[in-house]
Amino acid sequence: MMEGWRVLITGASSGIGREVALEFARKGAQLILAARRMDALRQVREQINTALPGAPDPLVVSCDVSDSKNVKKLVEISVRRFKGIDVLVNNAGIGVYGDTGLTALADFRAVMDVNFFGSVRCILEVLPYMKKEGRGLIVNVASVAAMYGVPFLGAYCASKAALVALSQSLRAELSGSGVSLMIVYPGYTQTEFFWKEKKVGRVRRPRGPYSSPVKVAKAIVKAVQCQKRNLVLSLEGKTLPLFQGILPLLIERVMERIAFQLRDGQEVSHV
Ligand SMILES: NC(=O)c1ccc[n+]([C@@H]2O[C@H](COP(=O)([O-])OP(=O)(O)OC[C@H]3O[C@@H](n4cnc5c(N)ncnc54)[C@H](OP(=O)(O)O)[C@@H]3O)[C@@H](O)[C@H]2O)c1
Repeated sequence: MMEGWRVLITGASSGIGREVALEFARKGAQLILAARRMDALRQVREQINTALPGAPDPLVVSCDVSDSKNVKKLVEISVRRFKGIDVLVNNAGIGVYGDTGLTALADFRAVMDVNFFGSVRCILEVLPYMKKEGRGLIVNVASVAAMYGVPFLGAYCASKAALVALSQSLRAELSGSGVSLMIVYPGYTQTEFFWKEKKVGRVRRPRGPYSSPVKVAKAIVKAVQCQKRNLVLSLEGKTLPLFQGILPLLIERVMERIAFQLRDGQEVSHV
């Protein structure tokens, strides 16, 4: 159980973040839920309070992670209220899907600003408190798309690969400090992410299989309890690094084929 754990989750208003919040609440954690949509956050809070009457009442805070002042305020409010943060889950994320060569610079920047800099902002604000306490965990929700640049996800893959690189650097630097870092690599998960993502052109998305956000959330919270350092959540994610090491040309060919089929309007499965 996680009674007394203070857990701050960004992007808690829907999808994986909402399910992670529910799963932490079941374990008795004190939650701080952040996102831009306050109405959706309040619904998550209500859901927790109704389903789990004994669980601590979550604090909901409106926060746009692409705004440094918002993030600073989020962390200040959280620390003032709960005297610290034990777990930071950097989950807020957005996507752009379509021809990478036709994607506007503003869209590259927007994705980086949420997926990469949004996490950086939260880390820079939370880390001093964790270091002072000599303990804490940062969970960065990356993606299998961080492992290899997949077709029509250039901006998204770049933002998640940057997050992984930053996480690895920071993890080494934090060694011995009591603060640890976990990288999560979800595969395709059935959430509203796909209907909110910006579309560039008319390229198809691969059809499933998609995992459920409940399954992903349960795996994340279990991995936190087991102090895992990396959590890879799909078969593609588990096999891709192996093939990349031994048959890199095969992966290139598969990616080219997927790009061709998706542009051509054909149905394809994932990698
Ligand atoms: N779904 C997948 O297949 C998949 C696969 C791999 C990785 N992921 C990653 O998993 C994470 C969660 O995605 P999801 O699938 O659960 O999608 P989702 O349902 O769309 O959730 C995204 C969350 O991020 C929040 N968000 C977006 N922009 C924000 C901003 N500027 N400031 C604060 N919060 C913001 C959204 O809340 P508001 O709109 O209320 O701000 C929402 O709560 C993302 O990092 C995504 O990249 C998803």
